Amino acid sequence: MAYNYITAEEAAAMINNGDTIGTSGFTAPGSPKLITEALAAKALKEQEAGREFKVNLFSGASTSDHVDGVMARANAYNMRAPYQNVPDLRKRINAHDCHYFDRHLSEMAQEVRYGTYGPIDVAIIEAADINEKGEVILGCGLGNVTVFASMAKKIFIELNDRLPKSLLGMHDVYMPLDPPYRREIPIYAPNDRIGSPVLKIDPSKVMGIVRTSSYDCVKPFTAPDATSALIGKNVVNFLVGEYKAGRLPKEFLPLQSGVGNVANAVLYDLGESKDLPPFMMYTEVIQDAVLELLKKGKCTFASTCSMTFSDTTEQELFADLSYFHDKIMMRPAEISNNPEVIRRLGVIAMNTALEADIFGNVNSTHVLGHRMMNGIGGSGDFTRNAYLSIFSCPSVSKGGLISNIVPMVAHPDHSEHSVDVIVTDQGIADLRMKDPVQRAYEIINNCAHPDYRPLLLEYLKSGVPGQTPINLKCAFAFHNALNETGDMHNVDYSKYM
Ligand code: COA
Repeated sequence: MAYNYITAEEAAAMINNGDTIGTSGFTAPGSPKLITEALAAKALKEQEAGREFKVNLFSGASTSDHVDGVMARANAYNMRAPYQNVPDLRKRINAHDCHYFDRHLSEMAQEVRYGTYGPIDVAIIEAADINEKGEVILGCGLGNVTVFASMAKKIFIELNDRLPKSLLGMHDVYMPLDPPYRREIPIYAPNDRIGSPVLKIDPSKVMGIVRTSSYDCVKPFTAPDATSALIGKNVVNFLVGEYKAGRLPKEFLPLQSGVGNVANAVLYDLGESKDLPPFMMYTEVIQDAVLELLKKGKCTFASTCSMTFSDTTEQELFADLSYFHDKIMMRPAEISNNPEVIRRLGVIAMNTALEADIFGNVNSTHVLGHRMMNGIGGSGDFTRNAYLSIFSCPSVSKGGLISNIVPMVAHPDHSEHSVDVIVTDQGIADLRMKDPVQRAYEIINNCAHPDYRPLLLEYLKSGVPGQTPINLKCAFAFHNALNETGDMHNVDYSKYM
């Protein structure tokens, strides 16, 4: 079938107020670039003419400024899910200009197929290539593209000529049956292939193809600061200790690593460790550090949903794609983050917290309990199902005004039942085989910043006797001190007693 080649503006003209859009991709890679920019421009024009123009947009995870930035600035979202990280959208969400709901990334595809989110009007798919039979070579991130492509009434392809066609073979496109017909997902090792190298779509649904050469615009990582470097070393020391003690198999276990500078620093340190064997990754995102690990042979294989490389690292990858071709496999989010597979493979999960409390509960999403940061992303999918779940964060933020170890988290994302280890620049708290009071001493003494240890111990001792001695009157004294004085050092328990 011959496709229509159209402009991004022509594509945007076919998207209507109130439509629900599903986009390919996971983080910036794989996300659309031009059509959403044209759609944001259309929304602004419509609004100037006094007509409402808002759409619902579902993705695999975060996108980029090409999607969430332009759309948020145009105030063109009614509903957005399941994850975001663009400052302009964060502002809209916290102002309730956009209805954002935060979902575990592994869950969304099935919910969309069951119809929970209503019909999908439009799918926008970034591709390296498409043939007449509707076989698509996808780009560097998949997300929920399989479900959006199968359910959408209209499909637009963004054909990005920056993406080499030799990406063919690096994707494993698979869509499971839904309960009650679901069978096991037959991944028994991170490098097992279970699906198709191409996405198969109905060519008659393709309304047009937009050509582009746009970049993802992922910034390179800065060299780890002193705090991230200490956290990285502590995580590696913990894993080496477990390995030497024989509590990890000699082949090691697959690693999952979260996003951000700390996660990148941890991976660099893992690459340097002489005490750990080469390992595989079963994760949702690989960042720049992983390409180095693959080059060194320290990481032998990475299963991921997205290659979230900075633009310069991506150029390096494309220049040497044949070397990496059999070392990286990209899967849809419902497979990369699948609880069944994560538990079967015995993944070691390493994610970042905003704050943790002295009993081991973790807040990953809400600053001071009320302000949405990014979302839970895949951290819950991995943390809840991993063999070992590690959270790291700096002991303090904002130059010490905020303690990231608090009496009680202001928003619970990961409970004490799923969190095995907490690591900060101060040290490691191994929470396994410890009751709540033992955990509290472990966290306060090993992970809290020394400035805040006396205040945390005072809180622990003031708790109502019981297995978990919390003190409801003072549980948020740290957060209140920050809200009222801008500094958590100014905790005054006597105000609440
Ligand atoms: N209270 C208030 N602000 C805090 C805070 C706290 N307890 N802890 C950190 N902050 C602030 C920092 O000061 C920083 O502010 P700035 O942007 O003004 O400098 C900001 O929050 C980000 O902190 P940083 O330490 O740079 O975090 P990060 O980039 O390592 O990201 C998360 C941490 C938790 C936001 C991020 O990992 C995330 O979104 N996690 C949820 C999703 C996830 O885990 N996915 C994993 C699977 S890939």
